[in-house]
Amino acid sequence: MARKKIALIGAGMIGGTLAHLAAKKEMGDIVLFDIAEGMPQGKALDLSQCGPIEGFDAKITGTNDYADIAGADVVIVTAGVPRKPGMSRDDLLGINLKVMKAVGEGIKNNCPDAFVICITNPLDAMVWALREFSGLPHNKVVGMAGVLDSARFATFLAWEFGCSVKDVNAFVLGGHGDTMVPVTSYTTINGIPVNDYAKIKGVSESRIDEIVDRTRKGGGEIVGLLGNGSAYYAPATSAISMAEAYLGDQKRILPCASYVDGKYGLDGLYVGVPTVIGAGGTEEVVEIELSDEEKANLKVSTDAVEELLEACKGLDGSLA
Ligand code: LMR
Repeated sequence: MARKKIALIGAGMIGGTLAHLAAKKEMGDIVLFDIAEGMPQGKALDLSQCGPIEGFDAKITGTNDYADIAGADVVIVTAGVPRKPGMSRDDLLGINLKVMKAVGEGIKNNCPDAFVICITNPLDAMVWALREFSGLPHNKVVGMAGVLDSARFATFLAWEFGCSVKDVNAFVLGGHGDTMVPVTSYTTINGIPVNDYAKIKGVSESRIDEIVDRTRKGGGEIVGLLGNGSAYYAPATSAISMAEAYLGDQKRILPCASYVDGKYGLDGLYVGVPTVIGAGGTEEVVEIELSDEEKANLKVSTDAVEELLEACKGLDGSLA
């Protein structure tokens, strides 16, 4: 069977990390695209030379030409500008919207059958815009955020309880912004609801609230520490798990920014919801029962996403 082709649009820190992970896992041959001349070619050469040491067979090429992503099975988009300390993800809307237009056209013209995972911020608006610009079916375009946000929540909970991260199943819904909704009622420590486990371990409700708050601001915490750039290891790892779910038809239920039309009372919006990912792309949005408070929190988050979509339409007439 021919190897799969993975196209990575954006060869910055996340793009390079994605290429390394995909090569190590032998997910397929990798094309690293960037508009900066020489940079993707240099990274591809460097990464190729890991092959003999790590023992992977993957052809890794760098390019500045969209024609080289032709026929890609999976496209992961990180192109665009990251935020700086003190900025919100939403401050990137204008600049990254223009990038999504170029990327969407590149995908439409070269690999319209690909499964596309967007990482560029502000995530929920950019994945929506990328879908509009590319014209791909909604089930083939998805945003990576919930896997990352849930992993952050799980990490902080495991640290608090002194337990294995493998036993924490954390759950975050909504937009990938400070209004995201870490849902404690669906978060468990190996099946034990997190609030029950907190009581057993003598962890107060207010401490859990602090962890929820730290999760919401998890991206900004790293932006502040790095001083220049944003997180890349965990975002790349999260997107790779989504790509593997698609390529392996795994039917995983992952929190992703999926297109929601009808469920959760939403009307044609990309936002973080539990989603079945398999060979059909985002095969199903799973609608779960939420408490009134959780519903209200989700509404705040989805209203914020809707505002961003209106801003996108104002900036680019073709989206109206
Ligand atoms: C993240 O959550 O790490 C990314 O969305 C990058 C950012 O700006 O926070």
